[in-house]
Amino acid sequence: MKRLAVLTSGGDAPGMNAAIRAVVRMGVARGFEVFGARHGYTGLIAGEFVPLGLRDVGGIMQRGGTILGTTRCADLKSDAGRDEALRQMQSHNLSQLVVIGGNGSQAGAYSLSRKGLSLVGVASTIDNDLVGSDITIGAATAIDVALESIDRLRVTASSHLRGFLVEVMGRDCGYLATIAGIAGGAEAIVIPEASSDPEAIAMEMRDAYARGKSHAIVVVAEGAKYDAAALAQYFKEHEARLGFELRVCKLGHVQRGGAPGVADRMLATRLGAAAIEHLDAGRDGVLLGVIDGKVVGTPLGDVVGRTKPLDMSLLELARILAQ
Ligand code: F6P
Repeated sequence: MKRLAVLTSGGDAPGMNAAIRAVVRMGVARGFEVFGARHGYTGLIAGEFVPLGLRDVGGIMQRGGTILGTTRCADLKSDAGRDEALRQMQSHNLSQLVVIGGNGSQAGAYSLSRKGLSLVGVASTIDNDLVGSDITIGAATAIDVALESIDRLRVTASSHLRGFLVEVMGRDCGYLATIAGIAGGAEAIVIPEASSDPEAIAMEMRDAYARGKSHAIVVVAEGAKYDAAALAQYFKEHEARLGFELRVCKLGHVQRGGAPGVADRMLATRLGAAAIEHLDAGRDGVLLGVIDGKVVGTPLGDVVGRTKPLDMSLLELARILAQ
């Protein structure tokens, strides 16, 4: 019987469980015996495999996180670690692997595939920075979580005529901040991809009050040159001149813990099922993502080491609509 392993790696993302479920159920339908490696590559290297049958993945689609656990595994970066991973796969009679994760995880997958392991990646990260997928598993839900917070902050900001800096995740990518900023009706957005200076942001916030607004909300990406802490420091130093009070809210890991919404459940289901179809057909060494609405396999070599560029026209849209 064909035997394969599936693992989740890197930051957990809402929808990972739906992807595991799809891998298992499509795998069983295609005659595979499916095993889960616990705690990402750490479990792969330690040979920690658990059998996953149809009933083991019941009732997990609606749960955030990952039932398999995840790590950022330093050991896979060494040749010895990769060799041990391959040895464990072989000794457990596992011939193929599905890696559900983001940039670092797919770099790990690529290094194993270059050593001859048959595998595919599934694009999963709240950051949505992976080349090879228009949107990645977890991003939509993470944005919804951020939006819920922004909507609530607007209520209290308006009551007090306060400014708010809301810091969102995204590592070096401003996608989460940009979409949350537009959909949350923020007065300004600060991201790593665009230059920003604290005085200009302060002026944008002050202008918002001048235009009759009762709040000024700025969504700041954690990777921006001036993150929320740096901006808050500047505002504090110039508080008297700026003439409004400021509060800071760093959303952090809260964004990753949501129950996946329909977009992430569907994306994860399609990509998880496609992972099996690709492995079954021998179309391995690719990252599975969605491009223009279709599931596409992009060679891992074209994905790794790159970051998907942000559509910068969104910033101009945000600026106009914030008026
Ligand atoms: O890559 C996903 C992500 O949530 C980033 O947005 C963030 O910078 C990072 O992971 C946080 O990593 P950790 O959970 O290891 O603190």
